[in-house]
Amino acid sequence: MQRGKFITLEGGEGVGKSTNLQFVTEWLREKGIAFVQTREPGGTPLAEELRELLLSRREEAVDPTAELLMVFAARAQHLAQVIKPALERGDWVICDRFTDATYAYQGGGRQLDRALIAQLEETVQGDLRPDRVLLLDLDPQVGLERAASTGAADRFESEQLAFFQRVRAAYRERAEAAPERYAVVDASRPLEQVQQQLQSELEKLLR
Ligand SMILES: Nc1ncnc2c1ncn2[C@@H]1O[C@H](COP(=O)(O)OP(=O)(O)OP(=O)(O)O)[C@@H](O)[C@H]1O
Ligand SMILES: [Mg+2]
Repeated sequence: MQRGKFITLEGGEGVGKSTNLQFVTEWLREKGIAFVQTREPGGTPLAEELRELLLSRREEAVDPTAELLMVFAARAQHLAQVIKPALERGDWVICDRFTDATYAYQGGGRQLDRALIAQLEETVQGDLRPDRVLLLDLDPQVGLERAASTGAADRFESEQLAFFQRVRAAYRERAEAAPERYAVVDASRPLEQVQQQLQSELEKLLR
């Protein structure tokens, strides 16, 4: 049995991850590929509870290391319960955010030590990495305007613009360091053009 492919959708606020996740799952359905669609933080009942804790706005300042550990706690649960079993039975997994988001938000945004993140990644994931990261790249100002139309700001969306500029830079840096694993998609273009590029990236995975 061949292991399924693990694809993640990444990018800052409002870049179109959720919108394009639908597009990717339609493509998988058309191809007759069995898949699991999921998201981070979250993807299991416990991990979704951790998501709530991470995203809710609160009086108490959240220590960045505490935040980082919660992200990886949710990820460990998600990997054990959902992602690994799916890949092992040959399903593809399409996930809205994964560890690149941790490097971008907790590493870039919160300026935590990348070596600490890498250490936790190794502990929690072993050698499991996404086969392909679809990185939607967009000026955060535009992304935040798009996101503002979809509901109240969560704890991350309430950050300053400089935070999101660091998030974007960290994502791009990771893509540049490993171009074979990342597809950088200019998300400022009309959705149709974005999806044309996504489709050609997906087709490559079938070869
Ligand atoms: N290429 C595009 N051009 C214009 N608008 C877009 C484009 N892609 C998505 N949008 C719109 O931007 C808004 C945010 O999209 P979406 O919710 O998919 O982003 P997201 O990356 O999932 O955001 P979040 O980080 O908040 O989860 C939606 O209203 C969506 O219709
Ligand atoms: Mg979304």
